[in-house]
Amino acid sequence: MRLLRLLPLVVLAGAALAEGPGGLTVPAFADGSVSEAEGLEAWARIEAVLTHPRCVNCHVESGAPPMWSGPEFETAVPHGMNIQGGESRIGAELLPCQSCHVTSTLPNEVPHAAPHAGMDWRLAPPEFVWFDVPGPAICTQLRDPERNGGRDGPALIEHITHDAEEQGFITWGLDPGAGREPAPGDLQAHLDDTAAWVAAGMPCPE
Ligand code: HEC
Ligand code: HEC
Repeated sequence: MRLLRLLPLVVLAGAALAEGPGGLTVPAFADGSVSEAEGLEAWARIEAVLTHPRCVNCHVESGAPPMWSGPEFETAVPHGMNIQGGESRIGAELLPCQSCHVTSTLPNEVPHAAPHAGMDWRLAPPEFVWFDVPGPAICTQLRDPERNGGRDGPALIEHITHDAEEQGFITWGLDPGAGREPAPGDLQAHLDDTAAWVAAGMPCPE
């Protein structure tokens, strides 16, 4: 009897403990516990996210403008109004992104308004270029410390939980609101896949 009454409490405490940064649960895969084949399956789902318009539109090369693309747009076009990220990546040289993309964790409710997130809107650094880059090349780029901002596997996982805490761009891309097609899956699934891919030794398709 006593044990039965205690049980729900124990279960609740367990759930609260498991819930980590940004409301996400970081799965614990021991190194080598995920096979290469399973790692490649996880990568295929990660690739579908990373190559989605909600992500690539900011991950453009040096000198390129941010892009408007996706089912909401007929074709991929450079950002209207001659917007350039510049070397600052925040548009400081011409017109700052923040003039239109405010920093806010409120939901994006107005279609075709400038979207916002909990981080200051900006282009990704040029070494993280993904626009028009094939998925397998993004894969090798992501595991190369020379081209990924010095992040190892655990740092890539932490990048996602940090984004969830700040309601940053990954969180936005998977749940952009305002009539935009989201990148596939949700943040927890993307975190689970990334952790599995890292535990498998970050395998990339040939
Ligand atoms: C003058 C206002 C304005 C400025 C300044 C501006 N934007 Fe935008 N941006 C918009 C609007 C409006 C949209 C939405 C267009 C639509 O949905 O039809 C948009 C959309 C975008 C998108 C597409 C998001 C998606 O759906 O994938 C990206 C990426 C983007 N902006 C990046 C930037 C960056 C980076 C800067 C700074 C270098 C910047 N913008 C500066 C107004 C602006
Ligand atoms: C508003 C522009 C913007 C959008 C949209 C965006 N990102 Fe980024 N991304 C950035 C910036 C800026 C950085 C650099 C920040 C950093 O390194 O901490 C970055 C860095 C990253 C990195 C680290 C890359 C590396 O090699 O270390 C990953 C992973 C990433 N973004 C994933 C995504 C995913 C997944 C999406 C879509 C769901 C997305 N981003 C959408 C701007 C954006």
